[in-house]
Amino acid sequence: MKIRMNNQSSKYVMCREWLHFSGALFIFPQTGSTSEKRIDMDFKKIAKTTIVVGGIIFIIIQFIQPNRDNPPVDSAITLQAEMNVPANIGSFLERGCKDCHSNQTAWPFYSYIAPVSWLVSHDVMEGRKNFNMSEWGKYKFNKKIQKLSGIYEAVSDRSMPLPKYIPLHPAANLSDAERDTLARWAQSQAEKMMGGAGE
Ligand code: HEC
Repeated sequence: MKIRMNNQSSKYVMCREWLHFSGALFIFPQTGSTSEKRIDMDFKKIAKTTIVVGGIIFIIIQFIQPNRDNPPVDSAITLQAEMNVPANIGSFLERGCKDCHSNQTAWPFYSYIAPVSWLVSHDVMEGRKNFNMSEWGKYKFNKKIQKLSGIYEAVSDRSMPLPKYIPLHPAANLSDAERDTLARWAQSQAEKMMGGAGE
């Protein structure tokens, strides 16, 4: 048997493989034609099948809604209330951190569209679990100091705000001077608390 390796036959092999892979053969058995003449038609059908199946999957996953709760906030125990936060620091936290580190997340429109919604929700839930300004008053003394030095580190080394968050939230793009001010404020608060602990 002689195998012709021209364009048409390699296209044919690709087509057959994709048919098997995509399961299109199962959905449209007639696309499994062995006639090379039908290949162009088959490709069109495969493209259509891919779009239709992809569309159906996209619609189905919209029903899998992630957690987008904003739990109630007790304004007496927030970081802002307890730490006597100056206005400029408050605005940095608001612009850069609040969406992931408080219970007052402004959920953007794409947080309603799967699969992006799952990723956004995951970041917010993880962010809150690690450091939640709305629950600050529930933290023990040591945990507060740890979080304050965490802020100092994260803001200085630019790991926070999460870099992927910044392009869609330009206001969160804190300047070097703003980062410096925020980092030093957090550090000074931690030091003040530690100093106070010995009294
Ligand atoms: C887009 C969401 C998002 C934003 C915005 C964001 N963070 Fe985070 N942050 C996270 C996530 C997720 C974690 C946990 C995983 C990790 O450490 O990367 C985290 C962890 C942290 C931690 C570590 C807590 C610990 O104890 O280990 C600190 C501190 C922190 N963030 C501070 C900040 C500050 C300060 C800002 C604003 C300048 C900020 N974050 C903005 C998502 C975010």
